[in-house]
Amino acid sequence: MSAQPLPAANPAPRGVETPDHDPDLCGTEGSIYLADPQALAGRASHPLIAGTRVHLLTFGCQMNVYDSEMVAGLLGERGAAFVADPAQADLILLNTCSVRAHAEDRVHGRLGALKVRKRHEPGLLVAVMGCMAQKEGEHIAARYPFVDLIVGTRQLHQFAQLLERVREGAPTPLLAIDETPSVQFGETVARRESPHQAFIAVTRGCNKRCTYCVVPYTRGPEVSRPVDEVVAEAGRLAADGVKEITLLGQTIDTYGYDLGTNLWTLLERLHPIAGLERIRFITSHPEECRDELWRAMHALGDKVMPFVHMPAQSGSDAVLRRMARGYTKARYLEVIASARKLCPGIELASDWIVGFSGESDADFEASFELMAELKPQMSYIFKYSVREGTPAQRLPDDVPEEAKKIRHRRLLDLQEEISLEQNRASVGRVEQVLVEGLSKNDPTRLTGRTRTRRLVHFPGTADLAGSLVDVKIVSATGLSLLGERC
Ligand code: SAH
Ligand code: SF4
Ligand code: F3S
Repeated sequence: MSAQPLPAANPAPRGVETPDHDPDLCGTEGSIYLADPQALAGRASHPLIAGTRVHLLTFGCQMNVYDSEMVAGLLGERGAAFVADPAQADLILLNTCSVRAHAEDRVHGRLGALKVRKRHEPGLLVAVMGCMAQKEGEHIAARYPFVDLIVGTRQLHQFAQLLERVREGAPTPLLAIDETPSVQFGETVARRESPHQAFIAVTRGCNKRCTYCVVPYTRGPEVSRPVDEVVAEAGRLAADGVKEITLLGQTIDTYGYDLGTNLWTLLERLHPIAGLERIRFITSHPEECRDELWRAMHALGDKVMPFVHMPAQSGSDAVLRRMARGYTKARYLEVIASARKLCPGIELASDWIVGFSGESDADFEASFELMAELKPQMSYIFKYSVREGTPAQRLPDDVPEEAKKIRHRRLLDLQEEISLEQNRASVGRVEQVLVEGLSKNDPTRLTGRTRTRRLVHFPGTADLAGSLVDVKIVSATGLSLLGERC
């Protein structure tokens, strides 16, 4: 990412270290490094935090990225600085994910290494927050007693005060994992990785009970934020130079049901905000999408991007039933057909789980066929990982690892074929691209995304970051498009 001048209200995230993965990908990690030397000066009102050098590592989904940005905002407001090199930090902060065993294993690996470091550096602070903290905070406290602070998903807005208590000498590990109603960040100014793009959490938690999934237990029941509050946050972001917002919710289509409103009303209210060029939202649930949404996306199509991330998970009705997803393959296809009819040009991304309990060869072939029929623009494909405390824990994890691997590979290969075919078909077209910054691999090129989130590289200079440009596509690979500015 390029070092771009930023509006004064949100000091420049110099030296931003962007995760080198697609931000949608769960179970990956990336440091948020928002070095702001000015923040070190004149923060006497928060002497317990001012000057603290924080290394923040985020695992998991976009909701975790958003939470990290908000907590970074809270600490930044109080004079903390952010460092990319963990060796330079006074506070190591891990924002954790429980969605698959792999995500948890990596946090255990980090904590094991920190145990050794803390022996030589007793003044170092270690804090664990997020989904693992919520789900097994007590276990973390017992296994890693050197950890200073453990904050669950519901008390993150109190992170700064909790840290101050640790610095005042409160007994550690200090545990804050109460199931309070919902996290409330108020008007905290997030410290983001990108000056031009921002996430906004619009619902918290999940009311579904997909049998494999731990999220309802780590995040609690679904709570929506009022429309006015979301519009105010989007307005602040737009005034700060943000061009693209992505609304976040575990099942974004149920946004507002608890408040007597809905997603399309929110989109209508966000649409007039001056300066905002693109509005996106994730993640959609097939059983909750309504035709009104597709119509609104089409009507507001200059700003609401024609892209939907709607996980199928499986193409087998028997597996979908055991997953308690609430739809069949036929119903899923109907929803997609409506979307494509009412919002022409819409593109689709999907998630798939291979090797769920009882998934036979024929069940897997049904997933393979569904992907081939759907032709999603991209997919996240996961091997089933049993999660403690979920209903599916009672079902046998009976697909051998080797079979999971083969099925995983087959879906990956099929998706690659589909993506390559679609990318090749766009050669010769002119695409509107929101420029994100200089390419990491080639500083003579810019990187950006089309309206449907396809990645584009094209020659250009850093001053274009944050602008919308027309790019003619000249060649394609399965992963990205290469173009020239028109
Ligand atoms: N709320 C979103 C995403 C939840 S987690 C939704 O409902 O779609 C993101 C993805 O992780 C899921 O879509 C699913 O494909 C995958 N996932 C969740 N639990 C999993 C598990 N136990 N094993 C493997 N993959 C899992
Ligand atoms: Fe998990 Fe299902 Fe909720 Fe998504 S909708 S977060 S997969 S329980
Ligand atoms: Fe992981 Fe929690 Fe997100 S479990 S996927 S970080 S909601």
